[in-house]
Amino acid sequence: MKRQSPYLAGETAIVTGAGNGIGKALAVEVASEGANVFLVDIDPQKLNDSVSELQALGYKAQGAVIDLALSGAAQQVFDGAQTAFGPLHMVVHSASPPRRETDTWRTVSSDTWDAMYHVNVKFGFELARLVGQHMIEEKIAGRMVYLTSLHAHTPRNLPHYATSKAAMLMLVKELAKTWARHGIRINALTPGAIAAGGFKPAGDLALKIPMQKLGTAQDVAAMGLTLLIDRFSGYVTGTELVVDGGLSVFNWFEPVQ
Ligand SMILES: NC(=O)c1ccc[n+]([C@@H]2O[C@H](COP(=O)([O-])OP(=O)(O)OC[C@H]3O[C@@H](n4cnc5c(N)ncnc54)[C@H](O)[C@@H]3O)[C@@H](O)[C@H]2O)c1
Repeated sequence: MKRQSPYLAGETAIVTGAGNGIGKALAVEVASEGANVFLVDIDPQKLNDSVSELQALGYKAQGAVIDLALSGAAQQVFDGAQTAFGPLHMVVHSASPPRRETDTWRTVSSDTWDAMYHVNVKFGFELARLVGQHMIEEKIAGRMVYLTSLHAHTPRNLPHYATSKAAMLMLVKELAKTWARHGIRINALTPGAIAAGGFKPAGDLALKIPMQKLGTAQDVAAMGLTLLIDRFSGYVTGTELVVDGGLSVFNWFEPVQ
């Protein structure tokens, strides 16, 4: 539903992984606050569906199918968004390759490792650098939100995933410290167990969460939106906002693998 006095009117956001889950929900949130949205995903069908849904609601949305694991992807995203909408004010980096339970320390392939690192860390850095330079040159007090994971702090039996998310968290802190004097804020947004497509809950996980339920993409997107609006988070940078229904304060025991 369109708000009467949107907080992000006339601004532009890049949202990666906007074809599904949390990225899609955040694309809807920023659009509903009046922003133009440049959606990026590797999946043409899902991307097309997301763009069409936003446009049907009367929002300004354009999309590009780009594999963020390939060299040059950051420049493509940056150029595409500027061509579509001009100056850039926000980045949401939600894309992340599928995390498969079978990709353990014994089995994860070199290609799978590289793709996880490329999308999460290298692309994440390269896009932030391009957009950050642009914001400094244009004197834009920009905001960025990078999706990390509770497994930036705790093992997940998926070393490529957990270590790449830990690296993203430090990337956020590095850039936050450097950019703060330019008025640019960047924060990590950390979902717990969110039934959003990228996560398949097993067993009685919901009962182990203090709030006794899995989260939704909408739960995470609402906090992401808060981090993008200065009215609510103007003095918040370089930190990590956890949206997990209390999961991370619960100590559970799993057999060591
Ligand atoms: N869902 C959860 O419980 C959970 C928990 C912790 C962290 N996260 C993080 O939140 C973010 C979003 O999670 P989600 O559950 O919405 O994921 P999702 O799998 O539903 O969506 C991810 C999107 O990224 C896209 N994508 C994957 N690889 C890509 C590539 N190489 N280039 C471009 N696009 C690509 C996919 O097509 C998909 O549309 C991810 O970074 C994930 O690691 C999610």
